[in-house]
Amino acid sequence: MRLRCTSLNAETSALSDVQRNLIEMGLKPHGPVLVQIGQSHQIRSVSTSSPATTSNQPTAEWASVYTAEGFDSEDGAQRVRLMSRSPGVVYGCISEGGVALASGAASVGHGWMGIHGMRTRPQAQGQGLAARILAGFAELAIQRNIPRVYLQVEEDNTKAIGLYKKAGFAKAWRYRYWRNDENPFHALPGISS
Ligand SMILES: CC(C)(COP(=O)(O)OP(=O)(O)OC[C@H]1O[C@@H](n2cnc3c(N)ncnc32)[C@H](O)[C@@H]1OP(=O)(O)O)[C@@H](O)C(=O)NCCC(=O)NCCS
Repeated sequence: MRLRCTSLNAETSALSDVQRNLIEMGLKPHGPVLVQIGQSHQIRSVSTSSPATTSNQPTAEWASVYTAEGFDSEDGAQRVRLMSRSPGVVYGCISEGGVALASGAASVGHGWMGIHGMRTRPQAQGQGLAARILAGFAELAIQRNIPRVYLQVEEDNTKAIGLYKKAGFAKAWRYRYWRNDENPFHALPGISS
């Protein structure tokens, strides 16, 4: 198997030497990605409608949103594989008439909840479904006595950032992926793939 070789760096002056080395090696920065943090109680208030119910198992309905029309099905299938095999993940999904419209996943560990893969089918967006998924995860976090929640979002994803802002998330830090676009599988020195 060949892995796409990517380096991940927080944007801080303390890493400026590392960034200079990455440029010398022909890598280019992509992103940036924001790491955001929110509080479970505040996130629970993002929706006044009924929160999404959560399940400890990935269901076919939950998975179907990621490969739905309007999304990159290859990327979606890969996300489903990754989220389905991670231990301790909970899955949130909202369906209407047997059709899943919105999905998300959350992982729990070390006193934190992490939220991943928030998706609403394009034709169902803007109806408060993702907010209900977030509220469902926040309810679970409150039940499990987990006060803090994190997620990652690309800085130019205005819809998602609007959602997370409404739920009270705020930036903790930002980072960039560095890739060699001409030769994505070029290994960094000291890293074998
Ligand atoms: C981001 C996403 C999950 C939001 O789903 P959604 O079901 O449409 O979101 P909701 O309807 O619950 O919106 C809740 C709040 O988010 C914010 N929001 C939603 N769409 C927005 C937009 N286009 N612009 C700005 N804010 C927006 C608003 O504050 C909204 O509350 P309001 O309707 O009371 O104003 C959806 O756009 C999506 O699937 N995008 C593609 C995948 C993606 O980028 N996922 C996030 C990865 S980090």
